Amino acid sequence: MKQFISVEDVPGVPRLVDIALDYKHNPFRDKSLGTNKTLGMIFLNPSLRTRLSSQVAARNLGMEVVVFNIDKEGWQLEMNDGAIMSGNTTEHVKEAAAVMGQYFDIMSIRTFPGLKNKEEDYTEKYINQFIKYAGVPVVSLESATLHPLQSLTDVITIREHWQQPRKPKVVMTWAPHVKALPQAVPNSFAQWINAWGEADFVITHPKGYELDPKFTGNAPIEYNQDKALEGADFVYVKNWSSYSDYGNIISTDSSWMVTNQKLQHTAQAKVMHCLPVRRNVVIADEVLDGPQSIVIKQAGNRVWAAQAVLSEILKNS
Ligand code: CP
Repeated sequence: MKQFISVEDVPGVPRLVDIALDYKHNPFRDKSLGTNKTLGMIFLNPSLRTRLSSQVAARNLGMEVVVFNIDKEGWQLEMNDGAIMSGNTTEHVKEAAAVMGQYFDIMSIRTFPGLKNKEEDYTEKYINQFIKYAGVPVVSLESATLHPLQSLTDVITIREHWQQPRKPKVVMTWAPHVKALPQAVPNSFAQWINAWGEADFVITHPKGYELDPKFTGNAPIEYNQDKALEGADFVYVKNWSSYSDYGNIISTDSSWMVTNQKLQHTAQAKVMHCLPVRRNVVIADEVLDGPQSIVIKQAGNRVWAAQAVLSEILKNS
């Protein structure tokens, strides 16, 4: 694997899931693979899970890790080629990415969308500028439209919680939120579940929250949440802002919050969320604190997803 930006960079999802689960059972199996190699972690936005799990994963492989909160501690970056830098930006990504590429063997970057300019976000302008100039493999720690480390984790988590011969019914449901959030997690989840091909996948949301069909593919959309949840084995809860009315909140309908009552007609579904989650807005306390929630185990699996990805890049570089 040369980079990790989307599922398209992965030769095979089941194989990567196997590698991750193998690391879960034997974390230090490849403790020398990353000796004398350094992972740079560049953050333009906040993070708890991605930041910490990736550091643990890199250290399990023997790598050194450097974390750089470039939004707070770096020079203000210019992202536009050909810009006349007479304004607030001090350093062009051309130099910044290229210089960091001199220090790191693998560069990982978190860069959220602005949610103002759909074209800029959906062409992945920021992460693509880093890829263009870094000169070393780049791993996405969440970009404008995708969060592949999260989605690999999600597939791992479903795989390890599902032992039956039939495919599980996996329902991704929109839930309300007070802020306009990116579509990266639901886009990516849909992309990975479709590529994995081992689930009956349904998406439910209020009208107007349709995601980019490039990611959702042929997954059925059911606008009635209760109907969608019937018989679900896994319920993946997430808020996102509108893709068509780009970046806007078009519903705050609290009846979409996931409660025990909402789960009544599922097949005792396991409840997943990428976290952080706003309690009693997105998911009720009774669900998060109850037996059906697997959000902590899911977050724990972030380590094995990151370790599988880093190991595959180390083996191929
Ligand atoms: N799920 C996730 O990416 O968490 P963080 O934003 O805390 O990294």
